[in-house]
Amino acid sequence: MKDMDISIGILEERHIRAIVEATKGTNVDYLEMCIRENHEKKRVTLAAFIEDEFAGLVNLIFLSDYLYFKNNNIPEINDLLATPKYSHQGIGAKLIDEMEAYAKDTYKYIGLGVGLYKDYGAAHRLYSRKGYVPDGNGLMYNNLEAVPGSHVRVDNDLLLYLVKQLS
Ligand SMILES: CC(C)(COP(=O)(O)OP(=O)(O)OC[C@H]1O[C@@H](n2cnc3c(N)ncnc32)[C@H](O)[C@@H]1OP(=O)(O)O)[C@@H](O)C(=O)NCCC(=O)NCCS
Repeated sequence: MKDMDISIGILEERHIRAIVEATKGTNVDYLEMCIRENHEKKRVTLAAFIEDEFAGLVNLIFLSDYLYFKNNNIPEINDLLATPKYSHQGIGAKLIDEMEAYAKDTYKYIGLGVGLYKDYGAAHRLYSRKGYVPDGNGLMYNNLEAVPGSHVRVDNDLLLYLVKQLS
């Protein structure tokens, strides 16, 4: 796919229908919340389209819920997604590039949290290829440290946070 086929821009109300159709399940309330928080300057949400078809989405949250990121002024890449139809064509990598470019004049680091089970396998490989490394704080469950000897459930709240230096 050539670069010029992909258009990436800020999420807008007019995109919602195409996103819901392409993903069969993205919650409209969630998308509305993203648009609201873009207006409130709490996050930036980018949507990628190939011609008129939705291909991917990513957020950059300026004040993460994860305390280590919040305390260290690290914005969080969140809810990165490429639709199955357009996966393995560089959309995920391009959306990350866009967020890094957006953040690099303001922030020294950028970060993200990733789940540990196999559904996140493509993300693990992508983040590793893009130069993201663990933040050094170990495993988190619900954003609290999973300490040795504790029992945690392997689900979407069990995360490893990764960071990348931007400059
Ligand atoms: C993770 C995710 C966003 C990756 O999106 P993607 O657009 O497929 O990512 P990319 O295309 O940039 O990279 C994926 C693979 O495609 C390959 N690729 C990229 N462009 C390519 C091209 N033009 N031709 C062939 N392969 C290509 C990459 O090398 C990479 O291969 P690898 O997995 O063997 O290393 C997507 O799989 C997804 O939505 N997963 C579910 C949600 C999720 O896990 N999100 C992350 C939450 S933390």
